[in-house]
Amino acid sequence: MEHPSVAVLGAGAMGEVLVGGLLRAGWRPDDLVLAARREERRAEVEETLGVTATLDAAGAAAGRDVVVVAVKPADVPTLLGQVAGAVTGSQTVLSMAAGVPTTRFEDALPGVPVVRAMPNTPAQIDQAITALCGGAHATEDSLVLAERVLSAVGSTIRLDEHHLDAVTAVSGTGPAYLFLLAEALTEAAIREGLPRHAAERLVRHTMRGAGMLLTAVDEGPRYLRAQVTSPGGTTAAAVHVLEERGFRALVEDAVRAAASRAREMGGG
Ligand SMILES: NC(=O)c1ccc[n+]([C@@H]2O[C@H](COP(=O)([O-])OP(=O)(O)OC[C@H]3O[C@@H](n4cnc5c(N)ncnc54)[C@H](OP(=O)(O)O)[C@@H]3O)[C@@H](O)[C@H]2O)c1
Repeated sequence: MEHPSVAVLGAGAMGEVLVGGLLRAGWRPDDLVLAARREERRAEVEETLGVTATLDAAGAAAGRDVVVVAVKPADVPTLLGQVAGAVTGSQTVLSMAAGVPTTRFEDALPGVPVVRAMPNTPAQIDQAITALCGGAHATEDSLVLAERVLSAVGSTIRLDEHHLDAVTAVSGTGPAYLFLLAEALTEAAIREGLPRHAAERLVRHTMRGAGMLLTAVDEGPRYLRAQVTSPGGTTAAAVHVLEERGFRALVEDAVRAAASRAREMGGG
């Protein structure tokens, strides 16, 4: 099944990005359907994406190979109430809801294979990294099906479910850490006298280049950092300040806070 039929329940940011990625990856509009909650948003995504959008989540889910849950965690119980009875064990439910365990879906949809996934926003340019895990009824086939869908917006990695809240804190939330660093670096550059347009361009391209280098070589960040750090040099001076002021501990605390919030939001 090269292009399984897909219903995306929740036409928000992630739902729209996923459908856009599926279209770019060769899915035909007829293979896809979106379910929205409000008429205004339904009409908007239908117009933007050229894919049928409906207010009837159960109707959208019925008979589709993959049923993607792309609503906020707090909206999952209502949505499950709407689609229970319309989804069968021959379909795969693919949830993106942060923190919500697969058992929550299995309780509402008995016998249905459930795959839980955590993508991130670089999905907008098909550069997501999405971690996924299978629930109690998920087979290798359902995992492969989910991977096929998620690969439309980037790479995938399989992990055990108990790791998913940590994944939310690392890669799900991770782009925001880098954006915050970009903001701070830009402001620092301006304080060093650079014109704003130059500061912004220098920071954007530095992050893009460093990110691409990090994924292009096997040695990892420590090696790459050592490469640009000569004793007594400029990088050493900067890194000394960051280490001295507790940069690592700060990152660790931030990740812990995000993981704990993911658990709370999922009710775990
Ligand atoms: N954004 C990210 O970076 C990211 C990353 C990884 C995972 N996720 C997960 O992806 C999910 C969606 O996130 P998002 O950022 O796309 O949120 P979002 O923009 O708020 O989108 C959720 C959409 O679902 C709609 N909705 C809610 N209940 C519904 C129902 N019963 N039937 C149909 N539509 C319904 C909402 O409608 P309204 O327009 O009426 O509110 C909203 O448009 C979340 O669970 C989040 O944890 C997000």
